[in-house]
Amino acid sequence: MKGAVRSAQRHDSALKHVTGQALYIDDMPEPPGTLHAALVLSPVASGRLMKLDLSAAAASRGVVATLVAADIPGRNSTAGPGKEEPLFAVDRVEFAGQPLAMVVADTLDAARAAAGRAVIEIEETEAILDIATALARQAYVQAPSTLRRGDPEAALAAAPHRLSAEFSVGGQEHFYLEGQIAFALPGEDGDLVVHSSTQHPTEVQHVCAQLLGCDFNRVTAVVRRLGGGFGGKESNASWVAGAAALAAHRTGRPVKLRLPREIDMIATGKRHGFDYRYTVGFDGDGRVLALDAMLAADAGFSLDLTPGVIARALTHTDNAYWIPHFRAVGYACKTNKQSNTAFRGFGGPQGVVVMEDALDRIARHLGRDANEIRALNFYRAGTDETPYGQTVDENHLARCWAEVKQGGEFERRRAEVDAFNRTSPILKRGLGLFPLKFGISFNVAHMNQAGALVHVYTDGSIRLNHGGTEMGQGLFIKVAQVVAEVFKVDVDRIRPSATSTAEVPNTSPTAASTGSDLNGWAAWEAANTIKTRMIAFASEHFGAAEKDVEFADGTVRIAKPGSNQVVSFGELAKLCWMGRVSLSATGFYKTPKIHWDAAAMRGRPFFYFSFGAAMAEVAVDTLTGESRVLRADLVQDCGASLNPAIDLGQIEGAFVQGQGWFTCEELWWDAKGLLRTVGPSTYKIPGSRDAPRVFNVKMLENAASREATIFRSKAVGEPPLLLATAVWTALKDAIAAAGDGKTAVRLDAPATPERVLAAIATVKA
Ligand code: MTE
Ligand code: HPA
Ligand code: MOS
Repeated sequence: MKGAVRSAQRHDSALKHVTGQALYIDDMPEPPGTLHAALVLSPVASGRLMKLDLSAAAASRGVVATLVAADIPGRNSTAGPGKEEPLFAVDRVEFAGQPLAMVVADTLDAARAAAGRAVIEIEETEAILDIATALARQAYVQAPSTLRRGDPEAALAAAPHRLSAEFSVGGQEHFYLEGQIAFALPGEDGDLVVHSSTQHPTEVQHVCAQLLGCDFNRVTAVVRRLGGGFGGKESNASWVAGAAALAAHRTGRPVKLRLPREIDMIATGKRHGFDYRYTVGFDGDGRVLALDAMLAADAGFSLDLTPGVIARALTHTDNAYWIPHFRAVGYACKTNKQSNTAFRGFGGPQGVVVMEDALDRIARHLGRDANEIRALNFYRAGTDETPYGQTVDENHLARCWAEVKQGGEFERRRAEVDAFNRTSPILKRGLGLFPLKFGISFNVAHMNQAGALVHVYTDGSIRLNHGGTEMGQGLFIKVAQVVAEVFKVDVDRIRPSATSTAEVPNTSPTAASTGSDLNGWAAWEAANTIKTRMIAFASEHFGAAEKDVEFADGTVRIAKPGSNQVVSFGELAKLCWMGRVSLSATGFYKTPKIHWDAAAMRGRPFFYFSFGAAMAEVAVDTLTGESRVLRADLVQDCGASLNPAIDLGQIEGAFVQGQGWFTCEELWWDAKGLLRTVGPSTYKIPGSRDAPRVFNVKMLENAASREATIFRSKAVGEPPLLLATAVWTALKDAIAAAGDGKTAVRLDAPATPERVLAAIATVKA
């Protein structure tokens, strides 16, 4: 049987991806009469919209319609009840890049040219453009939230040692290769099919219906694949689809809205940048006694997914470490910028950096090796509780740590790096280690559910549908492997199909790395329901006990005393049909054991934790501030991996994406709040030559999940992004070597050459 679970299978679209045959929305044939849309955006970060004159745009060649807020038949909102996130601004403009209107024309060029003719008058008001100003004015999109345990104030006061520090990390642009796009096709009676590059088809359905003022059952959202999402299409794809739907409704014609890269970068949210301030208390051995931390996120102008991001940041501030007395306060700062959103890690990366910074400072203060101090503070297996009250029962920290140090030859290379630094005045090297604990499950309990729909046809071929979306991460092949495993047929008998709200309704976004956990189980349930029916039928038909009907290698064996019978899977399917047995079933799964009190910040938000460890070596040029990652060794816990080929690719990709966040990807807004890094020439994502020259990536062996995850596998999508924290730690190590080696380094991310040079100046001073 080809394609069983745990076998290395290539992505079902791999060859199509690399030969250009995979169809994305912009590749779909356009029906006659298709129109194209372009957005009109605010050129100002904050102000009152005094005039929006679209007459010149409307009179332009090829223009069929112009749309503003007043043209929305339903509610001008792209968010749930109580949230204010207008599709088109009314009266008030809150960031430079905010959509004000849309132009629809018979060609894309005509639409874009006409959009440029909009006459906009905005009376500017003072904009808040950074976290510090928002904090000073207490401008928040939600009230501050606190995760607390014990008595941190008293424990800090009593601690033998105390250190305080501040630093900040920047945001990150998703830079998916396929930009935001939606194609809306009107049908009869107000029916609408929307092809959307979204991680959240159900939200697309809801937002389209909300804007149009119609029932959800009129709108079908369809997603064959995304050319990358990375969290950027969890909520932002919904308003793009909503705008296309609105135009299709208004004109009665198919409408496509595709954001050019620049507009995409200006109009959509990114990873939240954070400012931090903390005090850590510890004893003379380096054991952490208490932490008091302030994490302030740049939420941008509206709520979006910020509450979830803050919650995940706070529940990851502990990272791998037992901290008896703990307080972390998360601020969701309202600024006049793009509304920041999900990005791979979802606040987790912004949470773990606090303790990583603190442990480096503690080690420098005590003159000890930071990595010993790290290990000293690890959660102990089975007993320790996180500050939010979840026991760290399965705990692979010590194993991951030992493996990464051994595989990376830590002791030898530490000595080598130190020796290099003693004789190299200009180039400095640094080593950084990082342990990872990452919680898996949406931190909103009800989101942890999924559905699937499986059909077996009478030739034995199988059609698979589920609520998860394929964005390159290999979800479709993994879930197909699960179904193949249930029926014991080759995986190529299984045809994954486009995600659609008409096939599996009321779905959660494909996010929080839960895609294969949730949809894998749902598909297993659906397939197993059909298999159970097939067994019952075969038992009756062949006159054998149910336990003697066995599926293997694409066949079904019916063991009877003296006369074993073997039919192919397809033959049995056909017999079932003749016998009037249903060969179609839905499956449903909800994650067990989880609960979360969001106000108290206590409970068990995560079904399980995934673990990992990383070791990175960097080189820094102390004259130019440039840096390179010379080598990275990674160990990632994937449970019993469903597909080691896919998972390795996820680990490598996530690490390099994290490396980009920590080093070269810099978002830059000018003094007026206009984003000036709006394309690959000004916003630098890592290229192939930025990946570590030596890149050893391993999955933790013998790590089958203790919890009943699908075939004991674990999620992989986001956790390895955090492993890149080792690069940041290594950079600080190299910079410290430029000074006396005893001074702790403040290094804000991204560690661009400018910031590296500035940090070098502080240790040399
Ligand atoms: N991998 C690729 N190739 N493209 C993507 O857009 N998104 C990441 C991760 N890996 C992404 C990816 C993010 S943010 C998440 S949450 C998970 O995939 C979602 O998919 P999964 O839950 O099926 O792992
Ligand atoms: N990840 C992604 N999206 C989410 C989450 C999460 O943890 N919680 C709510 N939405
Ligand atoms: Mo991923 S940030 O949860 O889409």
